[in-house]
Order: sequence, then C-alpha cells, then structure tokens
Amino acid sequence: MVCLGNICRSPMAEGILRQQIEESGKKAIVDSAGIYGYHAGEPPDERAVHVLKKNGIDISSLTARRFSVNDFDHFDKIYVMDVSNLMQVMALARSDDDKQKISMIMDEVIPESKRSVPDPYYGGLEGFDEVYSMLHEAASVIVQKL
Ligand code: 4NP
Repeated sequence: MVCLGNICRSPMAEGILRQQIEESGKKAIVDSAGIYGYHAGEPPDERAVHVLKKNGIDISSLTARRFSVNDFDHFDKIYVMDVSNLMQVMALARSDDDKQKISMIMDEVIPESKRSVPDPYYGGLEGFDEVYSMLHEAASVIVQKL
C-alpha cells in the first residue's frame, strides 16, 4: 500500500486490509510505504489512528517508511492511492514485471476507473472517514480475490 507520506492513506489501507484478511481466514503479508521520506519513523497521523480505532482497527504501532525499489522483489502487488503515486512508483519500476504489479487501489472496485483516494492530510476528520469507507470497499474486493 503506497501513498505520499505513509502516515494517512497507506497505513489506513494496511490496517483495513490486514483486518479483513484475518477475518477471512486467508493469509497474506501486507505492508505500506510512502513515496517521500518526510515522515519516515513516525507513527500514522492521529486522525488516521482515530478513524480506524472508531472502526475497531488499531494502527497506532505502525511506523512510516519510504517506498524502496526492493519492494518490487518482496511483494506481488503494489497498490497506490492516486495518480501522482502511480506515476512516481511507475518511474521506479525496473522492468515490465515490476510495472505489472502496480495498480490504483480503487481500480479494484471499478476497473480502469483511475479513481484516486483523496489525500486527507490538509482537511478535517470527514476526509479520513471518506478514505476509510473507500479503502474498506477496495479491501473487500482484494480479499475476495486472494
Ligand atoms: P498520505 O498523506 O500521503 O496519505 O500519508 C500525506 C501526509 C503528509 C503529507 C502529505 C500527504 N505532507 O505533505 O507532509
């Protein structure tokens, strides 16, 4: 799960997907990272922690890190949150195999829609609620396909 800072959308996506996988009884390794390292080493934004807690998920112990090209070797799928993340991760891909792994997460709900999960960082809590509901829907499709 990849966004810009790895403190709002992608740690939310990580927590939501991990919980749905656990509930399904399936197994997968889920992680998240940010394109930029501004917030590396920090916990998720407190608003992200709050909205997930309200929905029964604890992401308070996650730590932000920067996306690394090695992630292409460790993961089968790289989900990005918006078009800007998509272009930046595509630019890091070393091969067609790497590129094939990258998808916009909301394309899981409506294929090819190129719909972005909006960056909630500069807004209020309602933006985090909207991100939660979008990611919850996308995660349920991902889990069905596992
Ligand atoms: P995220 O949100 O990409 O969903 O983690 C952001 C977090 C921090 C910043 C921008 C977006 N920032 O500019 O510091």
